[in-house]
Amino acid sequence: MSSLLETIVEHWVAVFSSIIFGALSSIVVYRLVFHPLAQIPGPKIAAATWLYEIYYDLYLGGQFVFEIGRLHQVYVHVNDPELVDVVYPRSGKEDRQGPTAFLTIDHDLHGIRRGALNQYFSKTAVSKVEPYIRQTAENLCQRLESYARSDTPVAISAAYSSFTTDIITEYCFGKSYNLLDQDHFVPNLQAANDAMVAMLPALKQAPWLHKIMRLIPPSYMLKMNPGMSAWIAVENMLDLFRWTRKEKSEDRLFMEAVVLVNAATATTSGNISLATFYLLNQPSTFRKLHEELVSIASDSEIPSLAALEKLPYFNAIITETLRHSFGPVSRLPRIHTSDAVHLKSENYDYVVPPGFPLSMTSVHVHMNPELFPHPEAFQPERWLDEQGRRQKHLDKYLLTFSKGSRQCVGINLAYAEMYICIAAVTLRLGRRLELFETTYEKDVKLFRDGFGGRPQPDSNGIRCRPLKPLQLVLV
Ligand SMILES: *[C@@H]1O[C@H](CO)[C@@H](O)[C@H](O)[C@H]1NC(C)=O
Repeated sequence: MSSLLETIVEHWVAVFSSIIFGALSSIVVYRLVFHPLAQIPGPKIAAATWLYEIYYDLYLGGQFVFEIGRLHQVYVHVNDPELVDVVYPRSGKEDRQGPTAFLTIDHDLHGIRRGALNQYFSKTAVSKVEPYIRQTAENLCQRLESYARSDTPVAISAAYSSFTTDIITEYCFGKSYNLLDQDHFVPNLQAANDAMVAMLPALKQAPWLHKIMRLIPPSYMLKMNPGMSAWIAVENMLDLFRWTRKEKSEDRLFMEAVVLVNAATATTSGNISLATFYLLNQPSTFRKLHEELVSIASDSEIPSLAALEKLPYFNAIITETLRHSFGPVSRLPRIHTSDAVHLKSENYDYVVPPGFPLSMTSVHVHMNPELFPHPEAFQPERWLDEQGRRQKHLDKYLLTFSKGSRQCVGINLAYAEMYICIAAVTLRLGRRLELFETTYEKDVKLFRDGFGGRPQPDSNGIRCRPLKPLQLVLV
């Protein structure tokens, strides 16, 4: 009797495991042989499973971006900047995933959600907050001055993200967080961003995790991950508007607000920090910018945005900063729903049928030595012609704000903040700002993909030290 039971159990295990094995191997065979993309060369394990990407992004920590570069060299040379317009068409119909305008899958639905946002971020809308941006930039400079008296270095991204957070919260909620009024620059949303970003590779493989996370009560979430506190603060901010939890979770406006605040803080402040690094690291570049600014500045006022935008060298500095900053290092996929995409050149000829995600990695376009000779160098001059006028033929290769119908909605606000903030810091602090224990290799160079690019894990970020104004001794 017991031996009969054993035989059955034994058989069941055998039958069960052969079913699983059979199912898995037919998936693998399908993917390797019959799948519409099977003809595209690459490692078999990457074609058959997600394990490849999981290994590089989850196990090694954000290294898939470099592996993609390597694979392009080994397998297919579809690392062609000319494909930018094919993958991210201006008028094309492409889909992607999620509950907010940023993450909406469906092209038409995205159009509706995005249209609603567009008017709030138009150039005219941004010009209405210009006085607030200028005022906030002045506050920032005064706060930086206070560090000159104390001789303490400033984690510059915390300073700039206080600036961007004050602006976006005023912009979105009509009520600024007033972070610049605090005694010290606090890293504010940075920890929350890092906490969120740390989860992205896992969420990418298992999107349903997000639903589970939304069910966790905030107090418990805080215990598990103190970094999330800043998000809970955003949530509390919305409580001011008497949204109930139900409205917030059902109404996608809550997620929309979270995405907006997220997208408008660490990103722009990261870019301003990067510009600050290069300016302080390259005195000749700084000097040229300073001269250009002084030529239009009056003593007391920061020049208007319209005047700043006309300065070719300043514009080239911002563009070169954006090239170095890459934007989302993770690929931003587009699904072309109606037409197949033809990837064709002398060396390759592939057809990707409708319905499959396609993407380009900004890092490999921005660092392409044919487009940008000595790509690791910071050279604003590459965006200027011989007469020092801004030339635009390279602009289409800039993927920092993504491209096409999904280009960043906040681009006008981001530019306004960059222009005004960099101008204010350059004019008000000028050469009195210096780098503090910050190096390109450790604190700036792309080390891993954390949605945006991240430096070495032991980096303390870009740090600066404002010096005291020279004391005039009257004799
Ligand atoms: C610069 O801005 C882009 C677009 O918002 C963002 O994706 C990128 O991460 C920012 N760069 C840095 C260094 O923060």
